[in-house]
Amino acid sequence: MPFEEVKKVWMNGRLVDFADAKIHVFTHAVHYGSGLFEGIRCYNTKRGPAIFRLQDHTRRLFDSAKIYRMELPYSMEEVNRACLDVIAANEFEDCYLRPLVYRGFHSLGVFPGACPVEVMIAVWRWGKYLGDEAIENGVDVCVSSWNRMAPNTFPALAKATGNYMNSILIRQEAAIDGYSEGIALDVNGYVSEGSGENVFVIRDGRIFTPGLGSSILGGITRASLIKIAREFKYEVVESLIPREMLYIADEVFFTGTAAEITPIRSVDKIVIGSGSRGPVTAALQKAFFDVIECRVPDEFGWLTFVREKAGAMPAAKARTTTA
Ligand SMILES: Cc1ncc(COP(=O)(O)O)c(C=O)c1O
Repeated sequence: MPFEEVKKVWMNGRLVDFADAKIHVFTHAVHYGSGLFEGIRCYNTKRGPAIFRLQDHTRRLFDSAKIYRMELPYSMEEVNRACLDVIAANEFEDCYLRPLVYRGFHSLGVFPGACPVEVMIAVWRWGKYLGDEAIENGVDVCVSSWNRMAPNTFPALAKATGNYMNSILIRQEAAIDGYSEGIALDVNGYVSEGSGENVFVIRDGRIFTPGLGSSILGGITRASLIKIAREFKYEVVESLIPREMLYIADEVFFTGTAAEITPIRSVDKIVIGSGSRGPVTAALQKAFFDVIECRVPDEFGWLTFVREKAGAMPAAKARTTTA
């Protein structure tokens, strides 16, 4: 149970006890998946706890809300502030943050118009998503028999709870078949993404990743990796990637808030490269972890310090109150 240490949850502007953070079974989102969320990591750096790309995650949350015509009763600054408040209330040094925006309790027609837009932010401690060894040794994955959703069905750029029914099918199938994760193709048969990660493929020193038109979530780790790789003067190409490119790649890896940068050592039991973490993946991983663990200056401005910079956040209109 990773939730044992959780003391407080931020719910609609108040910090409530873990035991009181409840919703009614008639809540719209429970029935129809009408929720949007973020997954954010706070790292225990040598300069204190720091949230990775908080403003970018909050912006994506608001983008998701715009796509679904949901108006949050809080500003982006208030959501940022609430993220800091809930970490402080739980006294965590490193944790995972889960802001969730959902259609609440009012009526149960599919048209959600009258259902309130509610916001909660949870935090808990969450270790390495694909296992402790995965970051170093890599994972064995399969190509899923499930496709990502077709364009103009579910908007992949919105991080909506309902989309994760598709992710569950991919992840469940992979687990049952003995793989750590599945990579889904888009409806045209091109590589899309993992159930909760973006995919990168390296061949002859060039780095390829599916573009936003391949039914992917616009990953914040993906964007960070592209930035770091270009700083290293690697050519990064966002393009259609045929399935077989996975098999003949020199290196393949996942990116994601939960998975961070995880090498892939085999796909469908075909060994990738030397069958262990490749040199480009290792270099990019190191550069990424150097930033998030504060071993190098944060030149990209990706870290928000929970204590150091808490007072520097834009003033929130309404401060969180403690229940
Ligand atoms: C489906 C999917 N793709 C990609 C990602 C990676 O996105 P990020 O790097 O913003 O965590 C995630 C994780 O949130 C995801 O759920």
